[in-house]
Amino acid sequence: MSKPVVLVTGANGEIGRSLLERLHADGYAVVTVDLTPLPEKYRGLCLETYAGNIMDRYLLDQVAAHHEIEVVFHLAALLSTRGERDPELAHQVNVEGTLHLLRMANNQSQRLGRAVRFLFPSSIAVYGMPDVAEKKRVGRVREEAWNVPITMYGCNKLYCEHLGRYFTNYYRQLGALSTAARLDFRAIRFPGLISAETVPTGGTSDFGPEMLHAAAQGKPYKCFVGPEAQIPFMAMPDAVQSLVGLLDADRERLSTTVYNVGAFSVSAGEIAARVKRIFPKADISYEPDPVRAKIVDSWPEDLDDSVARKDWGWKPAYDFDRAFDDYLVPGIRARY
Ligand code: SER
Repeated sequence: MSKPVVLVTGANGEIGRSLLERLHADGYAVVTVDLTPLPEKYRGLCLETYAGNIMDRYLLDQVAAHHEIEVVFHLAALLSTRGERDPELAHQVNVEGTLHLLRMANNQSQRLGRAVRFLFPSSIAVYGMPDVAEKKRVGRVREEAWNVPITMYGCNKLYCEHLGRYFTNYYRQLGALSTAARLDFRAIRFPGLISAETVPTGGTSDFGPEMLHAAAQGKPYKCFVGPEAQIPFMAMPDAVQSLVGLLDADRERLSTTVYNVGAFSVSAGEIAARVKRIFPKADISYEPDPVRAKIVDSWPEDLDDSVARKDWGWKPAYDFDRAFDDYLVPGIRARY
């Protein structure tokens, strides 16, 4: 039997690179689309790689025509800080681009006569806490609460979650195609992610990974939020595990299309202290950027992931200590 084909957009990004390794190890045939060509190391893990833009519908049609895609991981996006610098471009890439992928995956579902599973990384950025006092008071936030984002990226992700739910349950509900196979959309709202391999670009949770990677390279780091700023974070292997876990879950067990996942919640100061324990010469100072700090303050202090735990058995493997001791530090020491 041939291997099931998985399409990964944004494959050259932070999540993408780690996910490729996992999908390859799990026996999938991986097809990728990214603006930039994949490095040789990752190309070797793929059946085919396309360098191109998800806004290019002809490219997506070509990809769909050449492969029987059973699963889509749509990772390509402009993150929250980048999105504030160019909100219209963010909307184009994050919303229109997602619409192109949903349409393609739905056509593919009809062609195959069964639901293509569509995995979508959403974000803590879909939440908007009014102020730090309320954020502290509320603590862990459930999926349906505080869905009032203050960034273009957050608005885009929240809307695309709705689009995915719509495509799964209602797309073309009037008309001849009302009984045709639809796609099967599943989204995960990630906290800030930290990888030993890569530093993200254009995000607002980037202070966590940037601090660590700067210290490992002996570079000074000026943190764009104050030491008190606190949000949840997750180590990259857990992020990949959650995506694969949700992919593998039986549809009947899923009570919703959108799930929070959590691991640990720490302040910038706690991350800095941890980094200094590992790299005692680390030069970390604080130079808060008022807007980026406000965005971080608008994100919840932690995510309530009890629905993911109940529906599909989500459980993070890495708490704060394990993330540093067993994953980040060994990985980063080997890298630099
Ligand atoms: N990590 C993202 C960002 O900072 C949030 O999902 O924009």
